[in-house]
Amino acid sequence: MCGIIGYAGHRPAVPVIIEGLRRLEYRGYDSAGVAFVQNKELNIVRAEGKLANLETKLESINVTMATSGIGHTRWATHGVPVERNAHPHCCQDGSLAIIHNGIIENYQQLKAELLEKGYEFRSETDTEVCANLIAECLRSTGSLDTAISMALQRAEGAYAIVVCDSRNPGTLYAARQSSPLVMGIGQGENFLASDIPAFLPYTRDVVFLEDGEMVRIDANSWSVMNVKDLSPVEKQVHHITWDVQAAQKGGYKHFMLKEIFEQPRVISDCLTGRMDWKQRTVTLPELEQAAIPSRLHIVACGTSFHAGLWGKQLLEQWAGVPVSVEIASEFRYRQPIMQQGEAVLVISQSGETADTLAGLRLAKEQGLPVIGLCNVVGSSIAREADTVVYTQAGPEISVASTKAMTSQMTALALLALYWGIRKGVLPDETRRAAVDGLEKLPGQLESELPRMREEAKRLAREYSSARSFFFLGRGLSYPLALEGALKLKEISYIHAEGYAAGEMKHGPIALIDPEFPTFAVAPADDLYPKVKSNLQEVQARSGRIIALVHPGADLAVDSPWVMAEAWGPLSSFLALPALQLFSYEAADYLGKDVDQPRNLAKSVTVE
Ligand code: M6R
Repeated sequence: MCGIIGYAGHRPAVPVIIEGLRRLEYRGYDSAGVAFVQNKELNIVRAEGKLANLETKLESINVTMATSGIGHTRWATHGVPVERNAHPHCCQDGSLAIIHNGIIENYQQLKAELLEKGYEFRSETDTEVCANLIAECLRSTGSLDTAISMALQRAEGAYAIVVCDSRNPGTLYAARQSSPLVMGIGQGENFLASDIPAFLPYTRDVVFLEDGEMVRIDANSWSVMNVKDLSPVEKQVHHITWDVQAAQKGGYKHFMLKEIFEQPRVISDCLTGRMDWKQRTVTLPELEQAAIPSRLHIVACGTSFHAGLWGKQLLEQWAGVPVSVEIASEFRYRQPIMQQGEAVLVISQSGETADTLAGLRLAKEQGLPVIGLCNVVGSSIAREADTVVYTQAGPEISVASTKAMTSQMTALALLALYWGIRKGVLPDETRRAAVDGLEKLPGQLESELPRMREEAKRLAREYSSARSFFFLGRGLSYPLALEGALKLKEISYIHAEGYAAGEMKHGPIALIDPEFPTFAVAPADDLYPKVKSNLQEVQARSGRIIALVHPGADLAVDSPWVMAEAWGPLSSFLALPALQLFSYEAADYLGKDVDQPRNLAKSVTVE
């Protein structure tokens, strides 16, 4: 769960690497470091904390001579987040430096072997073990590519590594296994990175590396080979069209706020190419060749899991497809019953979430077709799924996922309509109402967002002294309540629990008192009367309530928050941003690091 970058070219390497690391900081940020060779000497500079600390350290060093090097931002998996555990690590004789994203699971065993051979270690990391293992293999083979190949065949687990050799600093080697790694192809310069934004100001030509591949780059050439036998592998160069501005804040105080305000566009973009506005129907070209499953298993984590819970209800109601939704880290370690004719839908913004990827692989092993619902083009899940439906939401930088969920819900609504139409089970009236509703939705949300933000700001100030919150909802609003609670806890650190409103009386209601407020999602749907009674039970215990309601709601709560109406289930698209904005404003008011909350990383590539 780290960000890595390697550069070989014609510019001073360190500024290019630092700039790349800044754009990768969302991947983890408890320490950072760079390695480069100058005057034949390998220099490693590392600092605990955010990238700014590393930059301060580099200010006193002349780094203009090196035209190649490697850099890393770390999110600790082995060893506490202190400077000695920061990357790059080097082998004992100081000739090789290495950066690594992932976990080498058998590193203790490898370390024991190396200790016996007389190696000494300065850190607690699996990465330093890898550096010394490569150095040990190099002693016997004399060639670095063979040494890396030998070492990696002994390593079990996940890795994307880049290796720099002080004796040949203009050439970098890299390899991947279950961790993201892409190569940028420039003019007289080449790049390696965990993610494309790292090198986007310099090139848009990208090669996606696959598991088991190794690559060698220098300023003017690159080659990809099989890590086991070093046989050449042919690769295609892809041209990326989105620009780096899309990954910048665009005038907003935080990426999270920018991404919340992007949601109207995200809905339109997700509809693009999938709506036949004339015929008032939906087409999903990606799924035209695929059979409609007899049962769908949705597998995902975090916010994507909540989107899956929301989508289940529409898929069952509109398409008549039975759906189970499971957290990927549970699914992967069960023996789920999957039968012929069924399919798995994995949902992941990043397309790199380790547990979701493992769920995908389990499904494939059992012979089930896998559909990926992903945002990141070329991500591991996108490449390994049999079919991909892209959410087309653009890069999401804030650790707290917002626009990704809106795009996933949009795509799931389209999927439910598409399968319902194909099966002939969706009433015409519903199809027409849904298409009308979707057409209006982006404009409606666009005009509501500024007002929603003002209300969110006011309520966040009033309630931000609470130590705990309940988020309640029923039906389609239940997954929204789960998401509201997740958002609040992850960025404001206020304890929050999401519950199905009907479950309150089975235990949680015992916690209610005047200091424990409840945030209810109570749109005017069929379940409104039921939610209303649940909220009366909360009020009877002196609990304060914020309730997202539709105009005309007869709920006498402390803080009614009247939201605009959309057609039927589409009202969720107006409730979700309200929940996101409430959390955002609470976290900002409390002075929290909104985009990079403590202990979290954007892309969870370890289990
Ligand atoms: O990239 P993915 O959608 O697979 O990520 C899943 C979760 O890690 C992610 O949604 C996480 O829960 C977010 N921090 C929520 O805001």
